[in-house]
Amino acid sequence: MNNFTSVSDVDNIPGLIQQVLEIKKTSASTSFGKSKTLGLVFFNPSLRTRLSTEKAAKNLGMDVIVMNIDADAWNIEFADGAVMDGNTQEHITDAVRVISGYCDLLGVRTFAGLEDQQEDYQEQVLNKFVSHSSVPVISLESATRHPLQSLADMATIAESSIKTPKVVLSWAPHPKKLPQAVANSFLEWIVHIDAEITLAHPEGYELSPIFTKGVTINHNQEKAFVGADFVYAKNWSSFTHYGQTPPVQDNWTITEEKMNHTNKGRFMHCLPIRRNVVATDEVIDHSLVYNQAKNREYAAQAVLQNLLEAL
Ligand code: CP
Repeated sequence: MNNFTSVSDVDNIPGLIQQVLEIKKTSASTSFGKSKTLGLVFFNPSLRTRLSTEKAAKNLGMDVIVMNIDADAWNIEFADGAVMDGNTQEHITDAVRVISGYCDLLGVRTFAGLEDQQEDYQEQVLNKFVSHSSVPVISLESATRHPLQSLADMATIAESSIKTPKVVLSWAPHPKKLPQAVANSFLEWIVHIDAEITLAHPEGYELSPIFTKGVTINHNQEKAFVGADFVYAKNWSSFTHYGQTPPVQDNWTITEEKMNHTNKGRFMHCLPIRRNVVATDEVIDHSLVYNQAKNREYAAQAVLQNLLEAL
């Protein structure tokens, strides 16, 4: 593995998921990463990604440096060829070249702008990191994907040992417009494991066909839940009418009553979650969400270890 920006960077996906679970089982802390530095750059807020990746690096004996770009850095210019006589003081090209010079691995979190579909789906910020970094790049979530979350989610499902589990990825309400990254990434990863996936969403919330090819889609949430072993909830804004949030008539909040249609299905969500909007307190309090969050540490550790081995 030379970078970790999507499932496509992984040669052996089931092997990586097993490695995550092995690290969890053995609580493997090593000095494998001693004298190596992980840089973490955040363009957006984060709780889980920041802490789990930092913890994972420390489990490997690495040093960690973190920068919150919005709070701590000069104003960054992203446009190639820009005449920088305005409010931006540092070009992304220079920032990435300098930051990567201090690190052996570099993680970056970016977020979709949700204004320009092409700009977001071309992953302009992440790709600038990949292009200009002198060290391997790890996506800590990008405009269209969240691979560390997806790896932890796959490990969480694999832990259940259910053969060919029925998994429903369900849209759920949210007061703000959100990117499609977690949902895209979940679909991109789950087709590589032994699972039966159904995507449930209201009309108007279709995801990019790049991610839904071959996936069963159901516009009736309760019917989609019948017999499910896992229900993964996430909100996303429209891909087609990019970043918009068309009105939804039915109530898509996930309740205990709806979960009763499942096969004692376990509720999953990447967090943070808007309680009693996305899902009710009862559903969240009897869910796998904290296990998922804990598995983020082991997922990050497996990825860091693989990237260090390839240096
Ligand atoms: N799930 C997730 O990525 O959480 P944070 O945004 O808090 O990192």
